[in-house]
Amino acid sequence: NLARKILIAGNWKMNGLSGQLEEVRKISEGCSATMGEVDILVCPPATLLRTVRDAAHSDLLVGAQNCHAKEKGAHTGDISAEMLRDAGASHVIVGHSERRADHSECCATVRSKLVAAHRAGLVAIVCIGETLEEREAGEALRVLESQLENSLHDDVTAGNTIIAYEPIWAIGTGKTASAEDVAEVHSHLRRRLVERFGQETGTSLRLLYGGSVQPTNAASLLSVADVDGALVGGASLKAQDFLAICEAAR
Ligand code: G3P
Repeated sequence: NLARKILIAGNWKMNGLSGQLEEVRKISEGCSATMGEVDILVCPPATLLRTVRDAAHSDLLVGAQNCHAKEKGAHTGDISAEMLRDAGASHVIVGHSERRADHSECCATVRSKLVAAHRAGLVAIVCIGETLEEREAGEALRVLESQLENSLHDDVTAGNTIIAYEPIWAIGTGKTASAEDVAEVHSHLRRRLVERFGQETGTSLRLLYGGSVQPTNAASLLSVADVDGALVGGASLKAQDFLAICEAAR
C-alpha cells in the first residue's frame, strides 16, 4: 500500500540535553539517503524541539511526546499542541502507556489530546497496549480494541493519525512480541479501523509496533503484515542503532 509509507519514529522520552545534539546531527546526516523511502521522525523532549528542528535536515520529521488538550490558559507547566507546533513539531505522541500510567491518562483524555493535536495541525501518534496480566488472561485483543475505540475520534484520517501498538510488557524490557502475536494484533486492529472509518481510511492508516525494537529484530518485525513502521525508545537514543533500524526498513 503506497499510502502506508514506513515510518520509523524515535521516542527519546525524558532524555536529551542541549549538549548532546551530536546524535541528532548523526541521525540527520546518516538517514538522508533513507528519507525518500522511509519517513523518519524523532521526538525529543519539548525543551529540545526548536533546537532539534533547527539542527536537523528539513526532511527529518520532528515531534513531541505529549500535549495538553486546551489551546492556552491557566494550566501551569503544561504545553499546548499549538505551542509544540510553534516550536517546530509536526507530530505528537498521545496516550503513551507511560503517560497513561504515570499521569492516570484514560482514553477520554487521550482522545481530547488527539482533538487538540488535530486542531493545531499536528499528526498524532496514538499509543495503545496491553499489560502482561491482560495478555496472559487472554484479554489482549479485547483491551486493545477498547483502547482503540475510545482513544480515537470520528475525524481521524490517514493523514492526521498514526496508531502505535506497544505491548506494555515489551517496553524497555528487551522482550519483543513474537511476529505471530504482532500479526494477530495488527490484523485485528486493521479490521476494526476499516469497520469504523471505512475501507479507504481504514486500510491507509499506519500501524506502528513499539516495544524493544532493536537493530537485531527490526527487519523481522517490519516484515510482518500490517506493520507500517516502528516506535523506538531506547535504541533511538544512539544514532548508530536508530540508523540501523531505519536501514532495516528500506
Ligand atoms: O515509545 C517507544 C517505547 O515505549 C518503546 O521503548 O525502549 O522498548 O524501545 P523501548
